[in-house]
Amino acid sequence: MGAFMKLLLLAVCAIWVLPGLAMAGITRHYKFNIVMQNVTRLCQTKSIVTVNGQFPGPRIVAREGDRLLIKVVNKVKHNVTLHWHGVRQLRSGWADGPAYITQCPIQTGQSYVYNFSITGQRGTLFWHAHISWLRATLYGPIVILPKKHVPYPFPQPFKEIPIVFGEWWKADTEKIISQALQSGGTPNISDAFTINGLPGPSYNCSAKDTFKLKVKPGKTYLLRMVNAALNDELFFSIANHSLTVVETDAVYVKPIKTNVVLITPGQTTNVLLKAKSKVPTAIFAIAARPYATGPATFDNTTTIGILEYEQPSSSKIKNRKFPLLKPVLPRFNDTKFSMKFSSKIRSLASAKFPANVPKKVNRRFFFTVGLGLSQCLKNQTCQGPNNTRLAASINNVSFVQPNIALLQAHFFKKSKGVYTTDFPTNPPFKFNYTGTPPKNLLVNSGTKVVVLPFKTNVELVMQDTSIFGAESHPLHLHGFNFFVVGQGIGNFNPKKDRAKFNLVDPAERNTVGVPSGGWVAIRFLADNPGVWFMHCHLEVHTSWGLKMAWIVKDGKRPRQKLPPPPSDLPKC
Ligand code: C2O
Repeated sequence: MGAFMKLLLLAVCAIWVLPGLAMAGITRHYKFNIVMQNVTRLCQTKSIVTVNGQFPGPRIVAREGDRLLIKVVNKVKHNVTLHWHGVRQLRSGWADGPAYITQCPIQTGQSYVYNFSITGQRGTLFWHAHISWLRATLYGPIVILPKKHVPYPFPQPFKEIPIVFGEWWKADTEKIISQALQSGGTPNISDAFTINGLPGPSYNCSAKDTFKLKVKPGKTYLLRMVNAALNDELFFSIANHSLTVVETDAVYVKPIKTNVVLITPGQTTNVLLKAKSKVPTAIFAIAARPYATGPATFDNTTTIGILEYEQPSSSKIKNRKFPLLKPVLPRFNDTKFSMKFSSKIRSLASAKFPANVPKKVNRRFFFTVGLGLSQCLKNQTCQGPNNTRLAASINNVSFVQPNIALLQAHFFKKSKGVYTTDFPTNPPFKFNYTGTPPKNLLVNSGTKVVVLPFKTNVELVMQDTSIFGAESHPLHLHGFNFFVVGQGIGNFNPKKDRAKFNLVDPAERNTVGVPSGGWVAIRFLADNPGVWFMHCHLEVHTSWGLKMAWIVKDGKRPRQKLPPPPSDLPKC
């Protein structure tokens, strides 16, 4: 080759390869020490499990395409795992985190490095503990910025602010759930909701623990909202300000202008907040309180933060006390609002951000989700109806947690005695799911999974059962985004309802509310080999068994197979 040709080749390489390398993203290292920390809320000091002593936990910031290496060192007496909620974990299922599903817990004194890349996602997600009820205090936001020099599909905000909702108990949440599981009754409800860890002035002895957002007039703010509460869907609003939803579950959406946002546990929502152009003589409540439909009592309180405007330094009214204006939130059981709001969420479905909805379906599933009962152990008294235990199920199977991780059992082909592959495709018996409950309310229990060949196009209809009264269930699927192609009230009617599915611009997300007394239909392409948990993100229902797992087999090509586990994968 001549010198000139060599030079030319080099130049061509520089043009093509270098930008490619720059696009690949960087590796970001985090160290998460799980430690106890004293935290005072509502005039009570409590020792809680935290990451690095922080509550809420540290924020993870990355760009699309980056690799994250998060070293978790467990220095508390509890077993711990962490989950990166909504991260697709393409061929990195070993880093997903749900205890006994993809890994054994990290035991006291041990550590594990969660190693995964963020591929094809940008927006807000969050991380949380995924064992027992430890996520009550172990959670924090994940901010995924677009690749360098790639703008948002909406006006660049002046500032970005995470708004993470949580739920606070005065008592030890690990004791609360273990006692409830022993007695078969309902666990105690929380004492407060929090915004970025702060309950705010509507609770006794809490005014000093109030989240404050100071804004400049005329500027636009991006609120990165996360519902990390354990058991409550939340309505959110800011007095006298409208919001524009631009992203849900780390997927851009067609902008929606609204005064109220509904956000279920497990969901994340980015909204633009445009500050008024003139400095007002008021301060504004940022408020959230539950949307609750079930039969159980719930924490019917409101958490409040404060939005205030920066006064110009020349202002004479600087130190005046302004009135606090409060927003109007929907009624606690406003299912109409809930369904209307979720139906407004639509994918951008643009050339840059297409909605790749599976048009053809290889396998159809119909799952009932809801509560039921299980038998009291011999010689025990139980607190459920007629001396039973409260339970929850999918297709009447209440999931039993195995003793080793399903993913290990699957990968090393040692499923015997760990799980069976006979999870029902349809409910075991038909009844009027949203009408009179059947006589026998007992659930079956077992560790059952569905096995899917690589690249199966799945359609799943989830139907609420009104066995103890209709109830909304925010269902979360690990390892995938799915498209919400339809929803409705009453029982799903395959002929009538399927004809109305939206295959053009449905919402693409990882958590969806199964409407109270209704159904929701989702579709996804099973292109990620591994074991993927699916469960209600109301933690109390997960504890009662409203969970199952999908096994997606390897594809034929090397890049379609799950690699072997990392050497530090915890042992059971
Ligand atoms: Cu955010 Cu399996 O959960």
